[in-house]
Amino acid sequence: MDPKASDYDRLRIEELNYNSYLKVPELTNLQVLQSRPPHHDEMFFIVIHQSFELWFKEVLHEVDLLMAYLTAGHVSRTLKVLKRITCIMECLCQQIQLLSTLTPEEFAGFREALGTGSGFQSVQFREVEFVCGLRDPWFFQFFEGRPEELERLQKRFQSPSVYDIFLRAMAKDGYAVPEKVLQRDVATGHELNDDLVEVFRNLYQDPKENYHWLLSCEALLDLDTLWAKWRAVHILMVTRTIGGKKGTGGSKGGEFLESRLKLRFFPELWEVRNADWQT
Ligand code: HEM
Repeated sequence: MDPKASDYDRLRIEELNYNSYLKVPELTNLQVLQSRPPHHDEMFFIVIHQSFELWFKEVLHEVDLLMAYLTAGHVSRTLKVLKRITCIMECLCQQIQLLSTLTPEEFAGFREALGTGSGFQSVQFREVEFVCGLRDPWFFQFFEGRPEELERLQKRFQSPSVYDIFLRAMAKDGYAVPEKVLQRDVATGHELNDDLVEVFRNLYQDPKENYHWLLSCEALLDLDTLWAKWRAVHILMVTRTIGGKKGTGGSKGGEFLESRLKLRFFPELWEVRNADWQT
């Protein structure tokens, strides 16, 4: 132990153990089944959703670091952070497969107990979308009457996104990011800008000594790909479990989710793929 640690620190560290440090008793008491009589599979459903929420928390934690690095101009450090985020997302795409062990009949056995509880109300999922630049105010309705969650979402909605900060950092490093993009109202969704596509085209065509910028673009694209992949595997799982039925959040279910499949965080990074390359 650090010889300079105070008596208080020494006592505190000696008292800590695996369970107290990780708060295991508290954590394992948070799975409260609502079905009566308790349905065996509801525990599984709760554990999956809670672990998703823990990972969303970690993703947001890493995204905040990513933005801090970009703001400070530490571009190559963002690669490591993006790697961690995409590893987590890979894991979440796998994790959704666990629900393939839940048959339609088993889910129907406790679905009523969920009431109107729905993924629409996941504040952290929506925060990730907002912070990455997808900003649809329609989703605020699911947080009415929950001031703390609304405040978190409002803050993300009105702050520059990862993409805004990334593009500002590129501009600072001499890239000709269009003024219109740099000066845009951040509390709106980002719209595809052809001049920005050209900036990326030039970077990809000839990165010169700035290969780290190209790698960062590719890492952002990995994140966008995995978020889209999550949407796709979620729909497959939803269809497998409830078919074409409506969602507990009131949407048309699979049909609504399909309409969101085409959404992207960083549209110019996709559009640049259509460029004609000089070889
Ligand atoms: C049996 C399991 C599941 C079913 C049947 C299901 C079904 C649905 C449906 C029908 C919707 C559309 C909204 C609605 O009307 O409620 C939805 C949205 C959503 N679900 Fe699930 N889901 C399941 C598991 C999960 C899991 C494990 C997560 C992990 C967090 C999740 C997160 C979400 C999120 C974030 C949305 C909003 C998506 C968006 O706005 O694009 N769902 N889900």
